[in-house]
Amino acid sequence: MSQADHPIKVAVLGCGTVGGEVVRLLQSSAPDLRSRVGAPLELIGVAVKDPAAPLPQESLVDLDQSLLTDDAVGLAGRADVVVELIGGVEPARSAILAAFAAGASVVTANKALLGSHGPELYAAAAKAGVDLYFEAAVGGAIPILRPIRESLAGDTITRILGIVNGTTNYVLDRMTTDGLDLPEVVRQAQELGYAEADPTADVDGYDAASKAAILASLAFHTRILASNVFREGIGGVTAADVASAAATGHVIKLLAIVERRGSEGVIARVHPALVPGDHPLAAVRGAFNAIYVEAEAAGELMFYGRGAGGRPTASAVVGDLVTVARHRLGATRGPGESTYLRLPALPVAEALTRFQIRLVVKDQPGVLAAVSRVIAQEGVSIETVRQTQGAHRGGLADLTVVTHQATEGALQKTVAAVSELDVVAEVAGMLRVEGE
Ligand code: HSE
Repeated sequence: MSQADHPIKVAVLGCGTVGGEVVRLLQSSAPDLRSRVGAPLELIGVAVKDPAAPLPQESLVDLDQSLLTDDAVGLAGRADVVVELIGGVEPARSAILAAFAAGASVVTANKALLGSHGPELYAAAAKAGVDLYFEAAVGGAIPILRPIRESLAGDTITRILGIVNGTTNYVLDRMTTDGLDLPEVVRQAQELGYAEADPTADVDGYDAASKAAILASLAFHTRILASNVFREGIGGVTAADVASAAATGHVIKLLAIVERRGSEGVIARVHPALVPGDHPLAAVRGAFNAIYVEAEAAGELMFYGRGAGGRPTASAVVGDLVTVARHRLGATRGPGESTYLRLPALPVAEALTRFQIRLVVKDQPGVLAAVSRVIAQEGVSIETVRQTQGAHRGGLADLTVVTHQATEGALQKTVAAVSELDVVAEVAGMLRVEGE
């Protein structure tokens, strides 16, 4: 049998929304994939929790039931390429390590595992001389990791701003268009299947923080884990915040921001932010994702598309599968972990940003002066101040202060000092302004 006829044995671990679509694509596109790889991709097994239970995908009714197994680790040890789509840390981690130990390459979409155990997986892949590919882990169908790892390998990436979580983008978008409060939109999103039954990983920013860690590690050739990422979710964003953002020509987005401060270090953060209405990221609506990359030579680039869902994510997974299968035929491998810069992870207090602070103040002479004085004392400069009567009566007014750029640390101290003032009844909201 020539090498071209020698099948590449593929094991798929997990047959949920994405795994099912990967299996379907492997079957429906088999002749094309064979031509593109240069050898057939032979599905040797699909690991599921309960092989006796019916598969959720109607399109898989013809799948040979003897391919199903509940022994993910055993199956991983028999394949040339293992596609891990179980998600979470265990048993996914053990199955991937078993695959490497048996000399198999791995394709995964598991951002939580990469964000927490990436270095261990890279080391195991390097030891075995095989590939670890994970394009689908960030931005679903959007090609973003290979462009960072390969297309931009000759450039210096300075910053990435990403909308990398579709659920929260959908929720913030609906809050903007419908004026609803967050819990109501989350409830509707769950009914429509956009949000998980337990939306914590999305709403609280854990999912985006794992993706930020992956982006920062690749962009800055440095080891950044999800635990190095400052994380603030969208739970505190109110309908009033959204309305106030609109009044100043902004939209609120949950951003993953990773930036390199020269040779000093890397700052990675996830938080809601005001984005100017004319920034390309402001146009990213619904559950779509976009990753905005700033590089020294290339300038600004934006990668846009579907960041979740079975078919879009399966596209990226099967793309990786074709790549690693080609590598196996060519007895080569793609890039491994690159950490030569070894930049430290800097605390978020050192991040440079701008704040929009919404205050409810006493409507009396000297208030503006008092607020301005306290802000200046912290070394922060004010860009604009806007006072409105708002909905308040009884001698209260709304005051919206936008600062110039300062460190997060100085801005946090400023907000604390302002909130102590007698003339300030309430700090009604505080959001960072990014992308200007
Ligand atoms: N929960 C994620 C999202 C799915 O909402 O974007 C893709 O990682």
